[in-house]
Amino acid sequence: MGDWVAWKLVRIARWFMDRATGIGREQQVDMKNPTTSVVAEKPLTEAQWLVRLIFLESIAGVPGMVAGMLRHLHSLRRLKRDNGWIESLLEESYNERMHLLTFMTLSEPGWFMKTMILGAQGVFFNALFISYLISPRITHRFVGYLEEEAVHTYTRLINEIEAGALPNWSDPKFEVPEIAVSYWRLPEGKRTMRDLFLYVRADEAVHRGVNHTLSNLKQKEDPNPFVSEYKAGQEGRKPNAALKPEGYEREEVIGC
Ligand SMILES: [Fe+2]
Ligand SMILES: [Fe+2]
Repeated sequence: MGDWVAWKLVRIARWFMDRATGIGREQQVDMKNPTTSVVAEKPLTEAQWLVRLIFLESIAGVPGMVAGMLRHLHSLRRLKRDNGWIESLLEESYNERMHLLTFMTLSEPGWFMKTMILGAQGVFFNALFISYLISPRITHRFVGYLEEEAVHTYTRLINEIEAGALPNWSDPKFEVPEIAVSYWRLPEGKRTMRDLFLYVRADEAVHRGVNHTLSNLKQKEDPNPFVSEYKAGQEGRKPNAALKPEGYEREEVIGC
């Protein structure tokens, strides 16, 4: 039931997001099969993409920080160890902020956008704060579904670039921002916008797998299977969240 509610909430949020960013009917893709659908009749423009990406990434950096903060405070006040979750959660929010900083070098949001971001953060932070206190399990599930949407969004963007629908970004000579080259250590020859979005999408796939897995675990006692120390104990089989869209079941990653 909780999973269903989390899923529906994400779908509703996506619907509003599409309306709010002015995506017309002919710009929509088949949302029943978002990753396999071809380029929409009228692809989004680069400016439309940037509005969407900047807004979404400014939101995406919130959950990891809220969850990490609450687990950190829990550890402090209960005098208990955290089992390694905080590290992954804060890493996630840092990674999302790097997505945002990368896109910010391509566009300077206007006052309307800045106001929207301000308002959205106020609502989203508080909603997540309360929901994480009530049910961290459902909140991680919600974030897992949210990241799924991000994977679909970047897949669509990559499709549009490959189809040559975006005048600048489809051009292999268009230079990716310097900040992206240093953050992802993009090798020579892998610095097109398509490459950049492949990296970003891979990050989102990791967040998706991590959050769905965390949702499947016992919140208070299970260790985080994705942190470095724990990987060593897995007989060399470290779980790869990017390859598990639905996350790992508890039995797969908690060896006991
Ligand atoms: Fe992101
Ligand atoms: Fe993400």
